[in-house]
Amino acid sequence: MRIVIVGNGRMGQTVAAQAESRGHVIHAIIGASGNESGRALTAERLRGADVAVEFTRADAVVANLERLIEAGVPTVTGTTGWQKELPRIEALVERRNGALLHAANFSVGVQLFLRAARDLARRFAGRPELDAFILEEHHAAKLDAPSGTARELQAGLREADPRRAFPITSVRAGATPGNHTVAYDGPYERVTLAHEARSRDGFAAGALAAAEWLPGHPGVHTVEDMLFGADG
Ligand SMILES: NC(=O)c1ccc[n+]([C@@H]2O[C@H](COP(=O)([O-])OP(=O)(O)OC[C@H]3O[C@@H](n4cnc5c(N)ncnc54)[C@H](OP(=O)(O)O)[C@@H]3O)[C@@H](O)[C@H]2O)c1
Repeated sequence: MRIVIVGNGRMGQTVAAQAESRGHVIHAIIGASGNESGRALTAERLRGADVAVEFTRADAVVANLERLIEAGVPTVTGTTGWQKELPRIEALVERRNGALLHAANFSVGVQLFLRAARDLARRFAGRPELDAFILEEHHAAKLDAPSGTARELQAGLREADPRRAFPITSVRAGATPGNHTVAYDGPYERVTLAHEARSRDGFAAGALAAAEWLPGHPGVHTVEDMLFGADG
C-alpha cells in the first residue's frame, strides 16, 4: 500500500519504519512545517495514496482529518485530546462517504485490558470498603492529561459500576511510553490490574494493522470494531 504519514514525531516515525519493513511504500511524510491548518494536504500531494496515518497534536488533528476526508483518503488517527470535535468529523465522513478509524490506544494488550477492567469493575461493584482509582503514567513530553486511554478506561469503568467515580491521577515524567493501572485499595489489601507498554512499537503495529484494514470499510470505526467486530 501507499501510505501518507501525517506527523513526523515519535509515533509517525515508528509507524513509517514499521510500514517500510512490512513492504509498504511511504507516499509522503507531512510534518508540521508548511502544514498549518492542513494546507499541505492537497489533492495533488495525496493523489495515488491508499491510506493516511495521522499522529500529530490535539490542536492540529481536526484540520488534518478534514483535508484528508475531503480528499477521499481513508484515514487512521491515533492523536488524542480532540474527542469534543468527533461528532463534526463523523458527520463529514458520512457526507463524503469516507473512511476513518480513530483510537486513543492502538495496542491490542490495552484493548484487552480495557475489557478486563470492565469485567473487574462489575465484580467489585457493591464493595465500598475497597476504594477504586486510576493511575496513568507517561513520558514528560506528553501534552495532554489525563491520557485518552485513561479517559476511555474511566468511562468504561463508570458504565460497569456507576456508583464509583474512578478518579484519575496522571504522572508526566521520564520516558515511559504509557502505563495504566486500575486499583482497588482497602484497609487490608490492594488489587491492581495494569498495562505497561514497553515501547511505541505496539501502538505503531496496531495503527498499521488498522491502515491495512481500513480501505474498503467506509464509515467511522474504532480499533475495537476492527479487533472484536461491531457487536463486540
Ligand atoms: N493511539 C495511540 O496508540 C497513541 C500512542 C502514542 C501516542 N498517541 C498520541 O499521538 C499523538 C502524537 O504522539 P507522539 O508521541 O508522536 O507526539 P510527538 O512526538 O510530539 O509528535 C507529534 C508530531 O506532530 C507534528 N505536528 C504538529 N502539528 C502538525 C501539523 N499541522 N501537521 C503535521 N504534523 C504536525 C509535531 O511537529 P512539531 O514538533 O514540529 O510541532 C510532531 O512532530 C499524541 O496525541 C499522543 O497522545 C497515541
